[in-house]
Amino acid sequence: MSQQIDHVLEETRLFDPPAAFAAGASVASREAYDALYKKSVEDPDAFWADVASELHWFKKWDRVCNKDNAPFVKWFEGGTTNVAYNCLDRHLTTARKNKAAIIWEGEPGDQVILTYQELHRRVCQAANGLKKLGVKKGDRVAIYMPMVPELAIAMLACARIGAIHSIIFGGFSATAIRDRVHDSDVSCIITADGGWRRGSVVPLKAAVDEALENCPTVKNVLVVERTKNDVSMEEGRDHWWHDVMADVSDECPAEELDAEDPLYILYTSGSTGKPKGILHTTGGYMVGTYLTSKHVFDLKEEDTYWCTADIGWVTGHSYIVYGILANGATSVMYEGAPNHPGPDRFWQIVDKYKVNVFYTAPTAIRAFAKWGDEHPAKYDLSSLRLLGTVGEPINPEAWIWYHEKIGRKNCPIVDTWWQTETGCIMITTLPGAMPAKPGSAGVPFFGVQPAIVTEEGEEVDAGHSGLLVVKEPWPSMLRTLYGDDERFKEVYFEKFAKQGWYLTGDGAFCAKDGYYMIIGRLDDVINVSGHRLGTMEIESALVSSELVAEAAVVGFPHDVKGQGICAFVSLRGDAEVDDEAKEKLRAHVAHEIGAIAKPDQIRFTDALPKTRSGKIMRRLLRDIAAGNETTQDTTTLEDFNVLAKLRESEA
Ligand code: WT7
Repeated sequence: MSQQIDHVLEETRLFDPPAAFAAGASVASREAYDALYKKSVEDPDAFWADVASELHWFKKWDRVCNKDNAPFVKWFEGGTTNVAYNCLDRHLTTARKNKAAIIWEGEPGDQVILTYQELHRRVCQAANGLKKLGVKKGDRVAIYMPMVPELAIAMLACARIGAIHSIIFGGFSATAIRDRVHDSDVSCIITADGGWRRGSVVPLKAAVDEALENCPTVKNVLVVERTKNDVSMEEGRDHWWHDVMADVSDECPAEELDAEDPLYILYTSGSTGKPKGILHTTGGYMVGTYLTSKHVFDLKEEDTYWCTADIGWVTGHSYIVYGILANGATSVMYEGAPNHPGPDRFWQIVDKYKVNVFYTAPTAIRAFAKWGDEHPAKYDLSSLRLLGTVGEPINPEAWIWYHEKIGRKNCPIVDTWWQTETGCIMITTLPGAMPAKPGSAGVPFFGVQPAIVTEEGEEVDAGHSGLLVVKEPWPSMLRTLYGDDERFKEVYFEKFAKQGWYLTGDGAFCAKDGYYMIIGRLDDVINVSGHRLGTMEIESALVSSELVAEAAVVGFPHDVKGQGICAFVSLRGDAEVDDEAKEKLRAHVAHEIGAIAKPDQIRFTDALPKTRSGKIMRRLLRDIAAGNETTQDTTTLEDFNVLAKLRESEA
């Protein structure tokens, strides 16, 4: 980590946008950015009212931002609107009616293109289908699906009738589904028989069946047919999507929802074993994703935009579906793996659809760089005009590779910092307004007031690192943790309760030029391939195995994934310490959480290093996992022998 800081501190290269790009950009100069930013923080109510007025409201709000009960803040109070209406109906009276809303490519190479009009029809149908199954406004609907068009349709159908969707990433296990279903009393699950991943079927329905052995609140399961593998259908509970949709009307007026009615829940890992149900609401989230999509991706009417994330993560919610469709843009959606059938699949898709704006993750960029320059070189990538990254810090080497080999030195790169909690992009460059600096995210987006502070809440000088906080509320911020207002206050607002600041959990610094660089998480959260995982969550999965007495999990630097997972495990007395035990534990974690949480290293040890008061010395374990000499003071270590033995333990 500190190596990376040094590296970026030395970074003096600045990359200006090409003149033609800047000339046509929605925010076209630093002066334009400065002026708008100034307005957004000096008179946020006026700023956000202007933005919201670009969208459709059934009834205008009475008050833009109500902070009376902070940190429980309300935006656009008294207003009524509908996100699906703004993503669809709003465009049907314009030239966008027959424009592609979604261009979908399946992993096997099949293709579906849905115009705004057709997507609207399918969403209305699905909304009526859900109603037929008894789903009402405010009900929670879990969605566990592959990246197929029905996933976007299902989300928008929920939004249309005011049902709250809770999307569960298709890589998570049955146990993870069950926990999430229980946490929010889900009544209906939408899934598919399976999805394609590297040429194999991921059996999604089977995982849902396993989860539902113990979920009495779930009355209906709606199953999209995708892979045609055998699935069992439980009479009365399970329904084929195509059967339900066959005889429902394709007209369904959008529900007039309160600006603060919930839109969705999305679970994300935190410092404890239990994922947090991040709750986003209607009006503010819509306005935030709309405006960031418009300016950060500089969307033009003729653009083809592709975000490679899975909709199971927040990136897909905000920047494949809601923000992009609210702008009436064309969103590409791809079902499968980046290297199937070959490591050139992404570039083939860019070339095929003439993608103009491309948004991906540093881990993917590092993987492509490793797979070889010849793969992108084979394709015509000249349609690209803007590139983006998100999810974790990008190392300058990977940034330069992206710039040269994909952007062909002709595309600005936006490095967008945000979180599931923030709902939309918070720190970035505006691509036509200012240069990009490899490794730095950039400046605050409109309305965002970040600061770097000490543990005591003192602001630090430029160039010094500290805790990244956000001082004022913004429209798309999370409203609470589903069913747990106390935990919401505690996790995000307790530390700086006096000041009312939002604690991001990230460390960062701001250089003299005002560009923020994100260093990484400061809590017990690790970032594996841009996916957030709690070390405690993996630890509790490990100790739930009958083999394990005690476990401690830490992250370590990993060339491609950003961070890898290292588990220090002490087994129960009679268990054999061998490779078979390692494999069993890896499989156990995959079963409890999902394959993404499988430890890269498992090190067996007789005991974990603890302080005299019994706290596991994680920093020391991090040093060992990374193969570094320990720099930490070990005088409080309870048993020095443990340290020597740990060093000997092999990964
Ligand atoms: C955490 C949030 C937001 C969509 C994907 C991740 C890290 C995110 C960047 C970036 C450095 C970044 C932070 C943040 N992160 N974007 N551009 N540069 N770090 O969402 O799972 O909620 O994770 O991802 O550590 O706190 P998430």
